[in-house]
Amino acid sequence: MMIFGLEGTAWNLSAALVDEQGVIQEKSATYSPAKGGIHPREAAQHHAQHMAEVVGEVLAYSRQQGLKIDAIAFSQGPGLGPCLRTVATAARTLSLRLQLPLAGVNHCVSHIEVGKWQSGARDPAVIYVSGANSQVLALRQGRYRIFGETLDISVGNAIDKFARSVGLSHPGGPKVEELALQAKQYIPLPYTVKGMDLSFSGLSTAATQAAKKYDLADVCYSLQETAFAMLVEVTERAMAHAEKKEAMLVGGVGANKRLGEMLTIMCEERGAKFFLPPRKFMGDNGSMIAYTGLLMLKSGMATSLTESKVRPGYRTDDVPVTWA
Ligand code: ATP
Ligand code: FE2
Repeated sequence: MMIFGLEGTAWNLSAALVDEQGVIQEKSATYSPAKGGIHPREAAQHHAQHMAEVVGEVLAYSRQQGLKIDAIAFSQGPGLGPCLRTVATAARTLSLRLQLPLAGVNHCVSHIEVGKWQSGARDPAVIYVSGANSQVLALRQGRYRIFGETLDISVGNAIDKFARSVGLSHPGGPKVEELALQAKQYIPLPYTVKGMDLSFSGLSTAATQAAKKYDLADVCYSLQETAFAMLVEVTERAMAHAEKKEAMLVGGVGANKRLGEMLTIMCEERGAKFFLPPRKFMGDNGSMIAYTGLLMLKSGMATSLTESKVRPGYRTDDVPVTWA
């Protein structure tokens, strides 16, 4: 099966062609705000402007190579409403024009599936951390159940907000990681785990306050250590509870080396195995949507036009994992 996938829930518009063996072609266009965070309407306009070029290039490649596309997959949610609508409109048009079935893909599930595909993990506890999401999940009775999640903002958003407040450009994650390498001391910051859930909002604000008094590198380091320790604690308990022998890190924040290192140590101590997909598959990309569409369609889960409405609040545990 050969699937064309289209991702565009937030900052990245990306189209890809995927089959069981791997990624055949991918083309992306990235929206980066002139200043501040992502503006939903501007991001959607960006996607609309680049749609013909991004989609066109992948389709042209498939024609040149004489490849036969079997279906169109698109990111149905969760994400920013205006972005989702732009992507869904393009996907429906392609499905009608090319007379191909449609698969509406849950963006979070696709981070997990592409992660398993590319890292070789089989049944992991998943740490999914990005600009919009922070969840610890595991497959149980046919769904990715959320064992713990943030009660306010995501860890990526917390780091980005802090970074902006100290004058670093968006996205702040990589810059904070780099500065943290030069730190000399740990500054205590609020550590908030409530049951299995997490809170990052107060931590972000406290880091902004601390940066007025302390060295920026020290604050970056302390923010990372605190936020990541919270995530590792919840992951460890989820692994114990769900009896998982594997952990896998996905989502944009998964590019952070320190987070990977902390999870590796925790897994070693429990006799478990840690999996990290290649960096290319960590952030948002069209391949993850195409691949998850492939899994859905192979297990008979197509999306009709009437079911193809965007789902901005689409939850991970709403999706029956019929292919597992
Ligand atoms: P989702 O829709 O799944 O929430 P997203 O649109 O936020 O995804 P991602 O690419 O998954 O997009 O994640 C982007 C986030 O990853 C940003 O918050 C960014 O700061 C963060 N990030 C990227 N690299 C690093 C890094 N090295 N360390 C920490 N955070 C990072
Ligand atoms: Fe994402």
